[in-house]
Amino acid sequence: MKKFLVSSLGLLLSFAAVAQQTPTTVSIIPQPTSVQTLPGSFKPSKQTLILYGDAEARKVADLLNTYLKNNHGINLTVHQSKAMAVKNQIMVIQDKNLPPEGYTLLVNDQMIQLRGNGAGLFYGLQTLQQLISGEGPNVAVPSVKISDEPRFAYRGLMLDAGRHFFPVSYIKQFIDVMAQYKFNRFQWHLTEDQGWRIEIQQYPRLQEISSTRKETVVGHAARSKTFDGKPHGGYYTQEQVREIVKYAADRYITIIPEIEMPGHSEAALAAYPNLGCTGGPYEVFTSWGVNNEVYCAGNDSVYTFLENVLTEVMDLFPSKYIHIGGDECPKERWKSCPKCQARIKALGLKDEHALQSYFIQRMEKFLNSKGRQIIGWDEILEGGLAPNATVMSWRGEAGGIAAAKQQHDVIMTPNTYLYLDYYQGNPSTEPLTIGGFLPLQSVYNYEPLPHSLTPAEQKYIKGVQANLWTEYIATPEAADYMLWPRALAVSEITWSGEDKKNYASFLERMPAQLARMDKAGIPFRIPEPAGLENNVTTDSRTTVTLKPLVEGATIYYTTDGSEPTLNSTRYTGPVALHLRREPVIIKCIVVTASGRKSSVYSASYLRRDYKAASNATPTNKGATFSAYFRAFKQAKQISGTADSSGVQSSFDIRPFLSKDAFSLAYEGYLKVDSDAIYEFNLKCDDGAVLYVDDELELDNDGEHAPLDKTAILPLRKGFHKVKLLYFNAGGGAELNLGVRTKGSAVNLRNSLFH
Ligand code: ACM
Ligand code: ZN
Repeated sequence: MKKFLVSSLGLLLSFAAVAQQTPTTVSIIPQPTSVQTLPGSFKPSKQTLILYGDAEARKVADLLNTYLKNNHGINLTVHQSKAMAVKNQIMVIQDKNLPPEGYTLLVNDQMIQLRGNGAGLFYGLQTLQQLISGEGPNVAVPSVKISDEPRFAYRGLMLDAGRHFFPVSYIKQFIDVMAQYKFNRFQWHLTEDQGWRIEIQQYPRLQEISSTRKETVVGHAARSKTFDGKPHGGYYTQEQVREIVKYAADRYITIIPEIEMPGHSEAALAAYPNLGCTGGPYEVFTSWGVNNEVYCAGNDSVYTFLENVLTEVMDLFPSKYIHIGGDECPKERWKSCPKCQARIKALGLKDEHALQSYFIQRMEKFLNSKGRQIIGWDEILEGGLAPNATVMSWRGEAGGIAAAKQQHDVIMTPNTYLYLDYYQGNPSTEPLTIGGFLPLQSVYNYEPLPHSLTPAEQKYIKGVQANLWTEYIATPEAADYMLWPRALAVSEITWSGEDKKNYASFLERMPAQLARMDKAGIPFRIPEPAGLENNVTTDSRTTVTLKPLVEGATIYYTTDGSEPTLNSTRYTGPVALHLRREPVIIKCIVVTASGRKSSVYSASYLRRDYKAASNATPTNKGATFSAYFRAFKQAKQISGTADSSGVQSSFDIRPFLSKDAFSLAYEGYLKVDSDAIYEFNLKCDDGAVLYVDDELELDNDGEHAPLDKTAILPLRKGFHKVKLLYFNAGGGAELNLGVRTKGSAVNLRNSLFH
């Protein structure tokens, strides 16, 4: 009787403990299809067994054991067993009934059960690893029920090893991190104008000559004529390539090699000048950009050379797909080459684009005859698509849309969202890049299935890839900085269903992942803290609440304009600011648990009075413009007699785009419906300035690529005079002025009067 009492008391106690526990929130990237968190957790002991059913499951069981040993200081026993999991066991089971690459994971306080189909078992392991916390006796896995499968079959990252050579150790680390986030395709860009990086035994001069350039341009190639005088080179031996291909395959990653043709090939021409139209001499290119020196399309020895190269490549890479480039091939040399022109004539081709199409189709025929398929950049659409080609859409989404409509498979890699060599923060605190601007949120917001395609056409979009071109990325550290955390966003785009995508949720889950990377020594870009945003208020006080986006990181800040250091004030809670007419600047650094420091990030906080509304009561809609058919040096200088003038419903530069250069002065009144704080965003190429009620409020002047700037203004209800000055000195042209209150949009088109 006494015994019974004790055990029933024990039962009562354990019920009470369960009732008090709330499920732990879990931070998994990419977000699984379904996650149910449950109370409690599984705590392995020394007696815990890891059980597997078959050889493939054994591989995953062993990987889990190694992971626990290396990262959490516990060493378990791995055993074969066909029985179902019982108390204190971790069961790893192949389940071919699950969807391709899918898995289920069940964790409770008794056991863990992981079921997966093929690679799915490995992906379940990646999820499980993200859930494990603690060291030795404190290791715990929160109770969850997860079922998961990928949205896209092709989930890729591309690394350009041509512009800069990356050592084998880095390629392996790159593959390791890819696998952790469920990527399954690595496009290895191996040949470029600036370097040939793969050993081809039949052509030893590719190793001797093409693998090394004598020096490299310093700074941005568009603005620099300085070179570093230092040779840069390197190539992967066939033995190393085989080792890397296996390393990737062990992690369920297929490597797609890219051998560029007919452009981006000056390095090969430097070794074999007879393959070019002019016969050379050529040198391995020392600058960046699109190069005129390309393979001659009229010379049969070019095709023989490339077939021999590809034969060795196919022997090294089992991938069904071989990438043959096809992008950015200038036609200058072909236009004046007797052999190329003879080929055009003999085949009755329309022009040089048709000649490129012939080139690609000829190479496709060769690769198809060996049982392989080609992938090419979207230029392969020009002059006619090769019959079985998969198109990689990089110049935005247009190429992918066109190819899908032609019923060709497509991989979406638009530079408008997925070029990870573009800036991810304010250029003044970022390393030099090629240009562009793709912060984390812009990448995250990419939706790969264009709405202009029918559901049947969307089926041709097989997947998504982000690209890391390395003109301005010379080291592994620089590559990791550009990749992470943006490639985490890409992982979620490629894996998680559209209904699972939520940026706020992603930002909640990301800090735990970045802490893991920090522990693993991956030098990702430490993001700006959440809450650090320029603000204007009409009050004399405001409170700034910051949150580091790396778990365990610390923020140090100043408010007196000085550069923050580890000796500055440590952020421990909301900062109260007393606001004056001069902005208060918060400058901060974020320091991770491993001691890595971010760049200095800042935001300004300003008190401003409302701008009074104008006395004018304009009734006609739109803005007046004065147009000048020349560029001023600065938008601020635009004045004098105009070449044309008129009224537009909004600021629309399209009617002037036929001019090489032009300038515009707009004037009008913005109708503001209520007293509120408005945000003006001015994006332009080249410069523009905005005056509101005759005060200069936004200065985005000077010759530049598209650049956006924001001003925050408290405005009283009524009409406010706006003057917008803009010039285009040639090249790209863009002018966009957005106005909104926090959380709402004002349609400028309906709010402008003159
Ligand atoms: C490319 O970015 N030229 C494919
Ligand atoms: Zn030629």
